[in-house]
Amino acid sequence: MTLLLRTLTVFAALGAAEMTAAAELSLAANTTGKNVNFMREQLDLFEKQTGHKVNLVTMPPSSSEQFSQYRLWLAAGNKDVDVYQTDVIWAPQLADQFIDLAEATKDVVGDHFLSIIASQTVNGRLVALPIFTDAPALYYRKDLLEKHGKTPPRTWDELAATAKEIQEKERAAGQADIWGFVFQANAYEGLTCNALEWIKSSGGGQIVEPDGTISVNNEMAAAAIDRAKEWIGTIAPEGVLAYQEEESRGVWQTGNAVFMRNWPYAYALGNGDDSAVKGKFEVMPLPTANDGEEPSSALGGWNLAVSKYSDEQEAAIELVKFLSSKAVQKERALQLSQLPTIASLYDDPDVAAAQPFMPNWKPIFESAVPRPSAVTKVKYNEVSSRFWSAVHNTLSGDGTAAENLELLEVELTEVKGDSW
Ligand code: GLC
Repeated sequence: MTLLLRTLTVFAALGAAEMTAAAELSLAANTTGKNVNFMREQLDLFEKQTGHKVNLVTMPPSSSEQFSQYRLWLAAGNKDVDVYQTDVIWAPQLADQFIDLAEATKDVVGDHFLSIIASQTVNGRLVALPIFTDAPALYYRKDLLEKHGKTPPRTWDELAATAKEIQEKERAAGQADIWGFVFQANAYEGLTCNALEWIKSSGGGQIVEPDGTISVNNEMAAAAIDRAKEWIGTIAPEGVLAYQEEESRGVWQTGNAVFMRNWPYAYALGNGDDSAVKGKFEVMPLPTANDGEEPSSALGGWNLAVSKYSDEQEAAIELVKFLSSKAVQKERALQLSQLPTIASLYDDPDVAAAQPFMPNWKPIFESAVPRPSAVTKVKYNEVSSRFWSAVHNTLSGDGTAAENLELLEVELTEVKGDSW
């Protein structure tokens, strides 16, 4: 090619790019379950519709690790990531690094549950738009409970007794690897959720109350954590101390657990063709300390936020609106069994047919207990990590719950200082 021709070709290419105003975006998303495959499929659709390109930056499945990485990137004013998938608890901590979406989403924001939008609103700024909400379930093996003449447990003690009995009988019958109960006791955000559930459902409060009082050092909370310690090595493998969601699901889905505490994403995966428990399980609300009390699920959920350092904020907003839209949320519910943040989808017959538990899960998520992120604001991660460490120490045999909660109260008082 002559120089002139080459120059003309370059100009033509530039002109075309300008006309379509196509942007190249990057989206940081977590890798739990099939989230990445699902996101990629949706991004391909978005690319076709808009002409933009989107790169997926995959993050570790642990919410805590993801948070640490985001914080580093954002503190450095990173321009490489335009859109961040964010945990429901992060809004107050990262609010200053994300743009206000209120104006750009005012046509769609009313479709979502108000409480979720409120949780992502900090000082009047909407810092993230929800893509799904989360409230955990007790998964149980219907076939095994029936075989051994057991009913689904309502209290933690009933759960432990049933788990123990079935574990022993199944092992005696040759199922050497089976365990009674798997959950998440690694030292990370997931343990904060599990332990909050044990404590709240035992009348022990919610770590830091909505009015800012540090309530965690109390007898009911200590008893709840001590009870969980009893499970380790008896009905739950020692390894549970290193389990996050995916490790528990691994044991469960190969048929090696009677019960599992996990989020709704494990429902679709457990019913997948490659699952040993396909069609053999059901889900129910988590147990309580005493029969008849309200169950306490930790409120989870994920959102999308636009970085204030992004050079492509307009296109990034388009992407956020696309991924949080009713159509994509419906697809997410159908394929990944994740709970929509749009009320009408709970009455959708396709959703109910694909995920029969889902219509029943609306009241469960609506009454779920939020972690104390709104009240402790920018100090939430510090509060949560001190809490999960105190619990993890107790579960590992390093101090009693009463001792560790007493220390925790001192630490949290220091973290709080004059105010949260
Ligand atoms: C789920 C929840 C999230 C929570 C995490 C803990 O992903 O949606 O809110 O922080 O689990 O592991």
